[in-house]
Amino acid sequence: MSERTLVLVKPDGVKRGLVGEVISRIERKGLSLAAMDLRTVERSVAEEHYAEHKDKPFFGDLLEFITSGPVVAIAVEGPRAITAFRQLAGGTDPVEKATPGTIRGDFALETQFNLVHGSDSPESAERELKLWFPNL
Ligand code: TYD
Ligand code: MG
Repeated sequence: MSERTLVLVKPDGVKRGLVGEVISRIERKGLSLAAMDLRTVERSVAEEHYAEHKDKPFFGDLLEFITSGPVVAIAVEGPRAITAFRQLAGGTDPVEKATPGTIRGDFALETQFNLVHGSDSPESAERELKLWFPNL
């Protein structure tokens, strides 16, 4: 049973040259790339992507950040891909929650700049993949 998840290498990851590192970890895990694109995120897409957080105090900063430079959007595919990538990423707070050995745990220090996004459920994955890769 294969599933798909949306992964983003956020602007901090692209600026820091960590795209290859992230893709390498995805591939070494055994997951595969179904689609990939480097693009600058439009404000409207960012708002829709993070709609669940629209009332949070960090929403404004989050939109500023995610639209601040190009991201790499990847549709990742494989058995239990959604949970598998969330494990590769590590917890949201890269110091308090993500452990060493994860992408965030190894390379990030601040929650706002935690390098990657991964869909958090099958419902989120379906919604996000439609938004980012409508033709997939
Ligand atoms: P969230 O969906 O809770 O985390 P995740 O990316 O692990 O699914 O939050 C989305 C992003 O918002 C998160 O990756 C970084 C940012 N964020 C903050 O800047 N401050 C915060 O307190 C939280 C919870 C998130
Ligand atoms: Mg989330």
